[in-house]
Amino acid sequence: MAGDWSSSSSTAAVPSSSGMARRLARHHQAVLGFLLGFFVSVVLYTTVSGPNSIAAVHDIENGQKDVLTKTMGKERIEDKKLVDGTDMNKKTAKVQVHSTDQLGQTANDASGKLKEELIRQELDQDGDGNNRSNVTRGTPLKPICDLSDPRYDICEISGDARAIGANCTVLYVPPADERGPDGAEWTIRDQSRKDLGYIDKVNVKTLSAAQSLVAPGCTSRHAVPAVVFAMNGLTSNPWHDFSDVLIPLFITTRAYDGEVQFLVTDFRPWFVDKYRLILTNLSRYDIIDFNKDTGVRCYPHIVVGLRSHSDLGIDPTRTPYNYTMLDFRMYIRDVFSLPPEGQGIPFKEANKKKKNGGTSTEEQKPRLMLINRAGIRKFVNLPEISAAVQAAGFEVLVVEPLRDMRLEEFSREVDSCDVLMGAHGAALTSFFFLRTNAVMLQVVPWGLEREAMSYFGVHAKDMMLQDMEYSITVEESTLYEKYGKDHLAVRDPEALRKQGWQLLRKYLWDEQDIRLNVTRFSPTLHQLLRTLGE
Ligand SMILES: *[C@@H]1O[C@H](CO)[C@@H](O)[C@H](O)[C@H]1NC(C)=O
Ligand SMILES: *[C@@H]1O[C@H](CO)[C@@H](O)[C@H](O)[C@H]1NC(C)=O
Ligand SMILES: *[C@@H]1O[C@H](CO)[C@@H](O)[C@H](O)[C@H]1NC(C)=O
Ligand SMILES: *[C@@H]1O[C@H](CO)[C@@H](O)[C@H](O)[C@H]1NC(C)=O
Ligand SMILES: *[C@@H]1O[C@H](CO)[C@@H](O)[C@H](O)[C@H]1NC(C)=O
Ligand SMILES: *[C@@H]1O[C@H](CO)[C@@H](O)[C@H](O)[C@H]1NC(C)=O
Repeated sequence: MAGDWSSSSSTAAVPSSSGMARRLARHHQAVLGFLLGFFVSVVLYTTVSGPNSIAAVHDIENGQKDVLTKTMGKERIEDKKLVDGTDMNKKTAKVQVHSTDQLGQTANDASGKLKEELIRQELDQDGDGNNRSNVTRGTPLKPICDLSDPRYDICEISGDARAIGANCTVLYVPPADERGPDGAEWTIRDQSRKDLGYIDKVNVKTLSAAQSLVAPGCTSRHAVPAVVFAMNGLTSNPWHDFSDVLIPLFITTRAYDGEVQFLVTDFRPWFVDKYRLILTNLSRYDIIDFNKDTGVRCYPHIVVGLRSHSDLGIDPTRTPYNYTMLDFRMYIRDVFSLPPEGQGIPFKEANKKKKNGGTSTEEQKPRLMLINRAGIRKFVNLPEISAAVQAAGFEVLVVEPLRDMRLEEFSREVDSCDVLMGAHGAALTSFFFLRTNAVMLQVVPWGLEREAMSYFGVHAKDMMLQDMEYSITVEESTLYEKYGKDHLAVRDPEALRKQGWQLLRKYLWDEQDIRLNVTRFSPTLHQLLRTLGE
C-alpha cells in the first residue's frame, strides 16, 4: 500500500497526483507480477443444501428464471458477435498494455503519470466504445453509461463522483467549464444480469450547470475508486455466485489490486461471510451496505455495474491484463492459501515424498471426491458407486456440500483430491480449488451434454484441469422408469429441447435422478486411472 498518503474507508485524504500516479504504477506492477509470476489461488466453494443446484434455483425463481435462461443462449451468440465487433479496440488496448509493461521494468516516478493514463485507458476500454484518445489526462471523463452489452450495463464516472445510498443514486458534478444547460440520466441494474427484473436499479446522473450549483455536499471523501454492484439475483447457488458476481467482480476490479471500495446494493451478509477471503482481497476497504448508507460519499472514480463476458467465463482480450480463467483459478487458490503451482496432483506428490523418504512401502491411492447431491439429479445408488470407485483403486471422500460450510476448510479438502466427481450441478463449481492436472469427472444426466460442456467442461479445460464426462444412457436415468420408453423426454431430448426451456427444465433438470450402471461405468474408472498416471 502506498505510504505517502493515508486513508481510511470513510475519510481518506485525496492524495497528491504524483502519489496517485505512483500508487497506480505500483498496482500495475503488482498486477503484472501476478500475470508473470505467479500462482494463484482462490476459491470457491460449494454449497448444496436444498436449493443449491442450478436447477433448484430454477425452481425457486420459476418464471423469472425461465425468461432469463432462454435469453442466455441468445446472449452467448450475441456475445461472440460483440467480441468480434470490438476487436479493434481491444488490439489498441493491448498494445498500450504492452508498452506499459516495458515501462514497468524501469519504473520510476516519471513514468508514473503515463502509466496512470494507460491504466485508465485500459480500464475504460469496455466503456462506450468512444474514441477517448483525445481526452487529455486530468480532464474528468463524462459519466458514460454503456448499455450495449447483452449481459450487463455499466457506467463509469471520473472526476467529481458522488454516491448517495438513500436513493441509490450516483451523481457526476462536471468541472465548472464543462457544465451544460442539461444533465443526462440513466438507470441501470448493477449486476451482470441486466435482464433480471428483481435486481433494483441504480440512478446515474450528470448534473447540469444549474444542478451543479446545488449539488448535495460530500459528507465523506475517499481517495480510491468505488464500484457499485448488487449481491442479490441468482446468488446462493455457487455456480451463480461465481458466474454472476465473483468473476465479474474480478474482471471489473482486480486491476485495482485492493485499492477500491465496494458499495453493495441488496447486501447479503451470508455472501460476504462466505466469500470473505475473495472480497477482502479484491478490496481492502470496508464493504458498504449501500441501501442503508447515509450521507454523500465522494470518490474520484465510480463504476456502477459489473462486466461479464460469458457464463462462468473470462475473455482475456476484454480484460485490462489479459486475465484468463486459469489466472482466476490460480488467484482463488492463492487467496485460499492452497499450495502454490508447481506441485503435482496430491497422490503423485505423496508418492514422490514416500520414495524420497524411503520408509513406507504403501503407495498413496488417488483420492476422489464424490459429490452427493441431496435434492434433484442425485445418485440413487450412491453406496454402490462409492464401492465401485474404491474397488477400482481410489480412496473415496463422499461430500455433501452445505451452504454454511466454511470454504477455508472445504477448499483444502478439494485441493487434497485428485478427482472431483459429481452429477452436473452447482457443486462442481468447487473445481476452482483443484490443482493443475487434477480431473473433473462430470456425470452427465440424460440429454444435458450441451449444458455440461458450456457450464463446466470448457472452463475446466481452460483452467488446465483434465475434463472428463460420463454421459449416462437413458436406462441410467430415472426418467426411464418414471415415464417409460415412449415419452418424448426419454425418446428424444433434442426434440424436447426444441419445445422450450420450460419442458427441458422440468424433465431433464428437475425430474431425473441417476442410477449409475457401475458395470458400464467401470471402463471410465480405468481410463481415469490411466489419465492420472500420465
Ligand atoms: C481517435 O482520435 C485520435 C485523435 O483525435 C485520432 O488520431 C485517432 O485516429 C482516432 N482513432 C480512431 C480509431 O478513431
Ligand atoms: C473527442 O472526439 C470525439 C469524436 O471524435 C468528439 O465528439 C469529442 O467532442 C472530443 N472530445 C474532446 C474533449 O475534444
Ligand atoms: C437523490 O438525492 C440527492 C440528494 O438528496 C438528490 O440530489 C438527487 O437528485 C436524488 N436523485 C434522485 C434520482 O432522486
Ligand atoms: C490479494 O491477493 C494477491 C495474490 O495472493 C496478493 O498478492 C495481494 O497482496 C492481495 N491483496 C490484498 C489487498 O490482500
Ligand atoms: C496480452 O495479450 C497480447 C496478445 O494476446 C500480448 O501482446 C500482450 O503483451 C498481453 N499483455 C499482457 C499484459 O500480458
Ligand atoms: C449395465 O451396463 C452393461 C455394460 O454396458 C450392460 O451389459 C448391462 O445390461 C447394463 N445393466 C443395466 C441394468 O442396464
